[in-house]
Amino acid sequence: MPSRAFIIIAVLAVAVLAVSKSNTTAQVAPKLDYEFFKSRVEPVFLSKRPDHARCYVCHAESNNAFRLEKLSPNARSWTEEQSLRNFEMVSILVNPGDPDTSRLLQHPLAPEVGGDVFHSGGRQFLSKRDPAWRTLAAWVNGATLASPKK
Ligand code: HEC
Repeated sequence: MPSRAFIIIAVLAVAVLAVSKSNTTAQVAPKLDYEFFKSRVEPVFLSKRPDHARCYVCHAESNNAFRLEKLSPNARSWTEEQSLRNFEMVSILVNPGDPDTSRLLQHPLAPEVGGDVFHSGGRQFLSKRDPAWRTLAAWVNGATLASPKK
């Protein structure tokens, strides 16, 4: 019959293994999905929401790090090449798997709910429950068109 000390050591070993395993999973950052970006995230930048100017109005060819491509005359969305450039540019402004430390999400978010203190473009998102903010967060968390809720 195993001694009590042996049982305690065995239980501890299992616990340590479980903890280190869950740490490893947490460290794997999700991949940012281009198709989800193109069909869900880009429309957020172009759409007019009540009381707020569109991100695009100020951020098309802007001189800060959030710099969207300029639409061609009369175009209502970006071309494939432009979207790819937008994707590359915006990808640098997020930390995959962590919307709360992602500049793209923090900067336009109201400070009362955890956003940056100042954004020249104002408090675009008053709450993290804003559907547009949630779309951005889902993308950062690795959402795909096949599994959009993350
Ligand atoms: C009325 C104009 C205006 C609108 C609308 C606007 N912004 Fe901005 N934004 C600015 C300006 C100007 C700056 C640079 C100065 C600053 O940091 O506030 C900026 C900075 C940013 C930055 C930081 C860029 C950097 O250099 O680090 C992000 C991210 C950002 N905006 C996201 C957004 C998003 C997302 C939207 C739409 C939901 C939006 N902004 C709407 C004017 C605007």
